[in-house]
Amino acid sequence: MEGKKTILLAGGLGFIGSHTAVALMEAGYETVIADDLSNSEESVAERIGQITGTKPKLYVCDVADREALRRVFREQEIFGVIHFAGCKAVGESVAQPLRYYRNNLDTTLSLLEVMAEFGCGRFVFSSSATVYGVSEDVPFTEEQATGGCTNPYGWTKYMIEQILRDAAAADPKLSVVLLRYFNPVGAHESGIIGEQPSGVPNNLMPYITQVAQGIRPVLHVFGDDYPTHDGTGVRDYIHVMDLARGHVAAMEHLNGASGSCEAFNLGTGKGYSVLDLVHTFQRVNGVEVPYEIAERRPGDLAVCYANAEKAQEILGWKAEKDIEDMCRDAWQFTQLRASSSSSS
Ligand code: UD1
Repeated sequence: MEGKKTILLAGGLGFIGSHTAVALMEAGYETVIADDLSNSEESVAERIGQITGTKPKLYVCDVADREALRRVFREQEIFGVIHFAGCKAVGESVAQPLRYYRNNLDTTLSLLEVMAEFGCGRFVFSSSATVYGVSEDVPFTEEQATGGCTNPYGWTKYMIEQILRDAAAADPKLSVVLLRYFNPVGAHESGIIGEQPSGVPNNLMPYITQVAQGIRPVLHVFGDDYPTHDGTGVRDYIHVMDLARGHVAAMEHLNGASGSCEAFNLGTGKGYSVLDLVHTFQRVNGVEVPYEIAERRPGDLAVCYANAEKAQEILGWKAEKDIEDMCRDAWQFTQLRASSSSSS
């Protein structure tokens, strides 16, 4: 019988990586995580083990460090790599662009170089809908032009996509899937893993959960004069476990591919406004989320949602969970974390 295939998750202790580890293990893969703990906690590996019954092997290292990566590849037979290791705060990327370019590009280059040394050719990249820039041509399709990003974080995703296209064109043994995430939210159904931003959250859902918990007094809704049904910004929120399954589908697709580099949107194809999300969160969880209308946030689009047909046609993947599941699971995780940290 063929042994289990091992997937290396670079940056695998973060929000999306940890859920993807669970989805991969549930699909019969083994997982190995390399993470420098710069924006994650070691306990996440334990918690993945609590859900799946097997704790992934963890290498605490900088993914840009080729010698550290070589050790991983020497010790493990790596079937494919999923690259989540990167800085992701938009505002911070504007203040510290060199750090963002250095870190996000270096981790990618090191992974590609060490994979080539060890003859590993399956690569899935955590990209973002941000690569579509300020286009108003919604829903976004993969064929649409990319670029025109509004911040260095977005440009790192754009540049890494280009690096990967060039690398795959030059090396027939390298096959790449670029997964363009829309707005990942929610948490594993168990409430054991979820999104744990450090400091003041940048993104809407973690801000809502902190207001609901009373950590912050009020949610600022950035603009109510957009051309949308209620004037607030519309986004394609996707449950993180649906997103995680998208990575399993991408890895399965790569099994038969060679020398290709293909992009897929991972979204639901549906848009919800800021107030739709706030009202749904209040209703399904029976909690108050006080909000006030504030100025628009610079760089925000009015409307952003996916055309998700390509992933369905080619990867056989589509999002299953709805906005209520996302709100319920995000709140369950927040409450369980709050009670476990107060009892420990
Ligand atoms: C942002 C990034 C995107 C990144 C994604 C990660 C920008 C321009 N885009 O997307 O590159 O991949 O996060 O998930 O920053 N909102 C409020 N109040 C808040 C926070 C957000 O009203 O306190 C609104 C925003 O104006 C927006 C919506 O909520 O309409 C979603 O915002 P957010 O969660 O930050 O995601 P994006 O801006 O879509």
